[in-house]
Amino acid sequence: MIVKEFGKEWTKQHVLKSVLLFFMHFLILTLIVGVLLLWDKFNGFTAEMRLNGARYLYALFCLFLLTVIMYFYFLFENREMISSGRNIALLFTILDLYVIVACLVGSKLDVYARPVALVALLIYVLVDRRSAIFMNIMSALVVFIIDTVADVNMLNQTAYSSLMIAFSAGMLAIFFAGKARTRFRVVLIGLFVVLPIDMIVFLLEISLFVSGPTVTGLSVWQEILLNMGYGLFGGVSSTILFLAFLPLFEVIFNCLTVYRLRELTSSDAKILKKLKEEAPGTYNHSTMVATLAEACAAAIGENVDHARAAALYHDVGKLHYPEHFTENQGEYNLHDELTPELSADIIRSHAKDGYTLIKAHHLPDFLADIAIQHHGTLPIRYFYAKALKLTDGELNIEDFSYLGPKPQTKLAAIIMIADASEAAVRAVNARSPEETERAIRKVIEERMDLEQFAECDITMADLTKIRLALVNALTGVYHHRVQYPNIKYKRSADGTTKGENV
Ligand SMILES: [Fe+2]
Ligand SMILES: [Fe+2]
Repeated sequence: MIVKEFGKEWTKQHVLKSVLLFFMHFLILTLIVGVLLLWDKFNGFTAEMRLNGARYLYALFCLFLLTVIMYFYFLFENREMISSGRNIALLFTILDLYVIVACLVGSKLDVYARPVALVALLIYVLVDRRSAIFMNIMSALVVFIIDTVADVNMLNQTAYSSLMIAFSAGMLAIFFAGKARTRFRVVLIGLFVVLPIDMIVFLLEISLFVSGPTVTGLSVWQEILLNMGYGLFGGVSSTILFLAFLPLFEVIFNCLTVYRLRELTSSDAKILKKLKEEAPGTYNHSTMVATLAEACAAAIGENVDHARAAALYHDVGKLHYPEHFTENQGEYNLHDELTPELSADIIRSHAKDGYTLIKAHHLPDFLADIAIQHHGTLPIRYFYAKALKLTDGELNIEDFSYLGPKPQTKLAAIIMIADASEAAVRAVNARSPEETERAIRKVIEERMDLEQFAECDITMADLTKIRLALVNALTGVYHHRVQYPNIKYKRSADGTTKGENV
């Protein structure tokens, strides 16, 4: 999940900032490529430049051109991606990392042993498929430029075939990564991309054999097998490096992946575990809201996994004073001893406390945002009504209202509605579909009257779909129970049992 720093506005300052950041990362990439190309030529640097300076200039220009192309691609196709320095740094760090690993493996081991699917897999999981397809092409081209400049004696055929291998292995990894929801399946992708690599290697080596003897002294078949082994190493090392680097990128760039999301929503996740132990009522309520939020998100095409996570974390702020919330109370109500003002203050603080807690644990931003937005600026009705009973004077309703902000996204609106609907339907005694529908309609209409959806782009059509999804989910949960008749059983002397209505 990427950061949207600039929102929908894209001003001259944003263009300037992103161009400067791209230029800075271009310089870093150039430095890396320069060191990789010249690291063993430092002694004869001047002589090398006099001899091959034009080739290095060619490499420099190609890298610059690719950076410009990369900038325009994201500017036109995925502006959000370059709307934050963090995202730009993520793209270039993955590219830099691949360039370093590919060049070292290429020079120390073999060009076929490069982890060719690494960029594709990392960008696919950390960003999205379109960016992964584009960056796969970019990384293959950068390494190709280095190959063609690094060794004038390098057989052109090998340079071109490694470009083809890098491109096709990366693309296939992206197309099959969609099914890879477990880490084990990612390893299978690594094995799968070996097939095209080894096929290319095999055909290439055969063609080289036809054109002349091997230079290594190995027999042709030994050479073919060795190179195919390198191909296998390349595919497998792609996934091993992917699995090794992914957690680092997740933490450093605060990226949200399916793997991290699964860990965050597991009942063993740190905050959720605490919630389960210290506020079991809130935990149960949150899991119920998660089921409802998933149904709502599916109904309007929002991300179901994100909806589930946001619902599980929406009330974690209640951990500060769990016993002050109805769902965690027993017989005794602590609010009986407090003024309505103080009670309202404690209740409304859970939205802000949730935000602070999520931020303190460096969890994804959208969880914190939804925690603080899920009650919007709604009044806390119970304590406002209590205060009205106790006073003859004027009351400021804002003293009994949540501080906001109102939901800023469709997902935040979903959590607001699912949260209130769960509580409202639980309060309805006979849970027929009609009564459930009425309760949910009231929840949505009340929030519309109080303009709680004014700052997010949810539509009337979305709200209708959400209402229907909630009725469906809640009547499934609180389904109507058939009243069982009372029967009294009697056992007669002959051992048979008879029953009669009571
Ligand atoms: Fe809440
Ligand atoms: Fe809640």
